[in-house]
Amino acid sequence: TSNNVEYAVADLSLAEYGRKQLRLAEHEMPGLMAIRREYSASKPLSGARIAGSLHMTVQTAVLIETLVELGAEVRWVSCNIFSTQDEAAAAVVVGPDGTPDKPEGTPVFAWKGETLDEYWWCTDQLFQFSGGRGPNMLLDDGGDATLLVHKGVEFEKAGAVPQPAADDPEEYGIILRTLRDSIAADPKRFTRIAEEIRGVTEETTNGVKRLYKLAADGTLLFPAINVNDSVTKSKFDNKYGIRHSLADGLNRATDVMLGGKLAVVCGYGDVGKGAAESLRGQGARVVVTEIDPICALQASMDGLEVVHLDDVVSRADIFITTTGNTDIIMAEDMAKMKHNAIVGNVGHFDNEIDMAGLAKIDGIRKVEIKPQVHEWVFPDGHAILVLSEGRLMNLGNATGHPSFVMSNSFANQTIAQIELFTKPGEYEREVYRLPKHLDEKVARLHLDALGVRLTTLTKKQAEYLDVDVAGPYKPDHYRY
Ligand code: NAI
Repeated sequence: TSNNVEYAVADLSLAEYGRKQLRLAEHEMPGLMAIRREYSASKPLSGARIAGSLHMTVQTAVLIETLVELGAEVRWVSCNIFSTQDEAAAAVVVGPDGTPDKPEGTPVFAWKGETLDEYWWCTDQLFQFSGGRGPNMLLDDGGDATLLVHKGVEFEKAGAVPQPAADDPEEYGIILRTLRDSIAADPKRFTRIAEEIRGVTEETTNGVKRLYKLAADGTLLFPAINVNDSVTKSKFDNKYGIRHSLADGLNRATDVMLGGKLAVVCGYGDVGKGAAESLRGQGARVVVTEIDPICALQASMDGLEVVHLDDVVSRADIFITTTGNTDIIMAEDMAKMKHNAIVGNVGHFDNEIDMAGLAKIDGIRKVEIKPQVHEWVFPDGHAILVLSEGRLMNLGNATGHPSFVMSNSFANQTIAQIELFTKPGEYEREVYRLPKHLDEKVARLHLDALGVRLTTLTKKQAEYLDVDVAGPYKPDHYRY
């Protein structure tokens, strides 16, 4: 703590470098900046205490300062152990007018290269606003903050935190330990916190899946807005964002020539489509694996061969998982890969690539080339390169999606926060999407910057289509 700003970041002296990047990012985030202008006088988020768990990058820093500008008190952590840009974290803590000796910004608990223990310690810090209070809003990416509250309430109700089962992943044991310490110190902490939370806005596909499951089970504790499925989020960030940041991650990690290489993209959803285009753009030969006939047919119509992993595992040079599913590339697959094949994941969680199985192979050696780039040398002497230990490599090996596309995602986030915070009681404990007119608004805010000249419907045309001249233009079931 310094000057009442609590923080745990790598190095506050990076703040000036971070601030310079923020200044450039603001120019590339017209949606967020327009929302700042629209609401800076009325401050619809005053009284909001927002706990945010989302990659602590430069773009997220602009989001945080937007929420603060709209009146919110904010605490922040990253939702991935490798995704923090330390200069962005420092800039947020120091604030636009502070100095490293006298920080005046927002509490952040995040640094690049956390251990899992540190990660869950940081997440726990989210819930300790000043004056012993908890947050009244969550902003989540992947659902870890939401998970901690839900598990906390569940165990407080049960009166005990269970021991992890033998086949539970290591991380679950850490979550249980974090909760055991917290509940021992204050047996009703999460129950109190959950009662005050007006809602959560969730950024990504995997987090949204968790929310729909909680809602279906009847255990969702507060309303949720699914930001991911705004068209201006998943059809932009997931696709065009990854088109940029996948190649960026591969280049920064390995600098290997992508052109001419055989690349396998596992999953052809929104992220898979962007990943395939990213690799194709560099001249790689791309093949796809899918389990969904619609997405498989799409890949085929896009000119990509759809294969089984087995068909190409010993010939391909680059393997990228984008499924949001588990057990996609197993240790025995990696053993069959050719020398110096590159393996990376851009799905949200680290279970797409069987890192645990890889580490268990008898006689395997792990050589660090540099942080987040490891050579795994098999007993027969051949090796593969695994990026970011199997975690989101576009954020671990590069800096994630660029500002312009994140301005779309974060404009949705900000609007969703205003919606849930200012309308308590209007939403049930269910998962909602933003209405289409707001989705269209987010898109509209980004047109001028690109010199887009949008045609306006005539009254006659609008009547013919049976829509309003001002929109919305499409029915909810339209798929873009
Ligand atoms: P999606 O549901 O549109 O796509 C996933 C695709 O994988 C689906 O088409 C599904 O049929 C396919 N799939 C599932 N199991 C498979 C298997 N065993 N083999 C082959 N294909 C399989 O989801 P979306 O939006 O593309 O997200 C994918 C993941 O990426 C999620 O975990 C999401 O949270 C994450 N994400 C990561 C970002 C990043 O910056 N790295 C950005 C946005 C999302």
